[in-house]
Amino acid sequence: MHFTLRQLEVFEAVARLGSYTKAARELHLSQPAVSMQVAQLEEQAGIALLEQVGRQARLTEAGRELYARVRAVQRELAEAEEVLAAHRGLRGGRLRLAVATTAGAFATRVLAAFARRHPGVRLALEIINRAELLARLEAHEADLAIMGQPPAGAPLRARPFLDNPLVVIASPEHPLAGQRRIPLARLAEERFVLREEGSGTRGALERLFAGHGLVLRAELEMSTNEAIKQSVAAGLGLAVVSLHTLELELAAGRVRILDVEGFPLMRRWYLVQRRGRRLGPAAAAFAAFLPEVAAEMVRLPDGVAPTGREAV
Ligand code: PGA
Repeated sequence: MHFTLRQLEVFEAVARLGSYTKAARELHLSQPAVSMQVAQLEEQAGIALLEQVGRQARLTEAGRELYARVRAVQRELAEAEEVLAAHRGLRGGRLRLAVATTAGAFATRVLAAFARRHPGVRLALEIINRAELLARLEAHEADLAIMGQPPAGAPLRARPFLDNPLVVIASPEHPLAGQRRIPLARLAEERFVLREEGSGTRGALERLFAGHGLVLRAELEMSTNEAIKQSVAAGLGLAVVSLHTLELELAAGRVRILDVEGFPLMRRWYLVQRRGRRLGPAAAAFAAFLPEVAAEMVRLPDGVAPTGREAV
């Protein structure tokens, strides 16, 4: 008998899902292609393995026998893959990391340190917004993501590993620069340069204002923190950004952090993966490495107390 692994895989999917159509969808094949693989398998077996009962594809007696053994073969093959990966160690492994725009400021630094420790690993870094991050995880196109708290109820596993303090910045010439304990309501009179819809930073600011019954003057929108900081330095308005993006601008005196009541506003960084997904050796090594080094690699500007009120 010359069964191919592919035939067995197709047969297993039809039997498990009870449907040729669903199996075709899962395997990214056309339905005729699925039927053909099963028909060939049955021809070689010399006996019917599946029968159609109404809309359901059901296993025959012989089909059930084969199905149990195919499942066992699949488990063995998956284990064999893991054993080989463990033998290879990290060398030749691959890590696909996707991070939120704001986390891009430190993720490259962490990734560079990881690459120095594990030179054999192939690395891919994507810097995208929150909505895109969730889509990547959903489609299994990223092993791990670094982002703000993911939505409750999503099939994700998220571990917080670092605080993310948000601060209000202004140009050093702004009338509010240097004032002490500015009331939040005073900010409602100012124009803000905001991140795009879908940014976690923007969401936190919007919720803070809404929670105090304040309306945000949102006239300018930009999709990178760099553009926002330059606009603020040029006097276009105020902005709320993560302290993690400010090291250079503060040192160069291009922007000032305002002393606003309730700020810094505390968010948190999370390392996120799909629930139930086994990480490869490279991704698992990164998941262990990140919390170890994050606090020391994410440099905060001198003299800024990174404590504040929890963001909602
Ligand atoms: P960002 O940051 O989406 O504003 O870049 C991530 C977050 O704070 O959730």
